[in-house]
Amino acid sequence: MNDQAPAPLEPTDSDHTALLPTAPDGPALSPLVQGYWRMDAWERTPAEHLDFLKAHVELGVTTVDHADVYGRYTIEAQFGEVLALEPSLRQKLQIVTKCGIQLLTPQAPERRIKHYDTRARHLRASIEASLGHFRTDWLDLVLLHRPDPLMDADEVAEVMIELRQSGKVRHFGVSNFTPAQLGLLQSRLPFTLATNQVEIGPLNVASLFDGTLDQLQQLRICPMAWSVLGGGRLFDDEDETGRRVRTALEAVAEELGDCRLDQVAFAWVRQLPSRPFPILGSGRIERVRAAVAALDLVLDREQWFAILQAAQGRPVP
Ligand SMILES: NC(=O)c1ccc[n+]([C@@H]2O[C@H](COP(=O)([O-])OP(=O)(O)OC[C@H]3O[C@@H](n4cnc5c(N)ncnc54)[C@H](OP(=O)(O)O)[C@@H]3O)[C@@H](O)[C@H]2O)c1
Repeated sequence: MNDQAPAPLEPTDSDHTALLPTAPDGPALSPLVQGYWRMDAWERTPAEHLDFLKAHVELGVTTVDHADVYGRYTIEAQFGEVLALEPSLRQKLQIVTKCGIQLLTPQAPERRIKHYDTRARHLRASIEASLGHFRTDWLDLVLLHRPDPLMDADEVAEVMIELRQSGKVRHFGVSNFTPAQLGLLQSRLPFTLATNQVEIGPLNVASLFDGTLDQLQQLRICPMAWSVLGGGRLFDDEDETGRRVRTALEAVAEELGDCRLDQVAFAWVRQLPSRPFPILGSGRIERVRAAVAALDLVLDREQWFAILQAAQGRPVP
């Protein structure tokens, strides 16, 4: 048993609404980010989406994560429609979106193969389209969604500088980049990239060991963590690793005092010294509330390593 006080299950007096910087040059985001990738699956009317949006903003989850490709290029506009129901909300939000993936889609019948495009012309057009979809004059943070082997770092840097100066994009970052890919782009920029959004969770610990998080800690850039719960795999009885990790999370949850295993998973990720910003994938407000309540949760070192051991299926060497 650990000797710590039981973790609080409900939001405490701590200020969960304070924004935290992701990098030396900003931006400041909420410590938990609401992901909108699965917005379609929530099957809600615009008014119901607005209720959910207002509810998570009220809880201090004011940063929203999007991408042009979500919902096959439809989610940004759906979100913009929701925002138009209460335009004053825009000031309270930090909108993150991504660009660079070219899906096969009926909207682009001339496209013959899925690919990436990080050329200046495409980045400009994609960001203009996102601004229109969200019905906003500025995007808080735009990420290159995937590393593009044809990326010309000088060309990307030039367009990033131009779009920052225009005020259309306040900050730029990357997603799913290796340390070398991030280092290359960073070497051409006069400002620090805001983040590298990568998969981090007890079901995917690769970034803890491949240099990704070490580089971010070195540069004082905080990652954004996607699929902390393995995209729901953690709750899949058919998944052997999922079952093993779930058992370890449940044991720690019990030790910490009747908290939930998803709360432990978020705390486990937030304890990494690169200080990740977890992105919540659930569309259920009670799960968002539970994640916010877990912002004060602290695992001791042995509890943290028990989860790593379950993730890796063996003790550390
Ligand atoms: N940059 C990238 O390449 C990238 C890639 C993937 C995702 N993302 C971003 O990261 C966000 C989060 O990713 P994700 O959706 O995969 O996150 P996740 O939190 O790992 O998975 C969310 C899924 O798990 C389910 N879930 C959550 N809590 C649960 C619980 N206690 N019991 C049972 N099921 C539970 C949710 O269902 P319910 O809705 O029913 O709760 C939902 O289907 C996305 O929305 C997106 O913004 C980025």
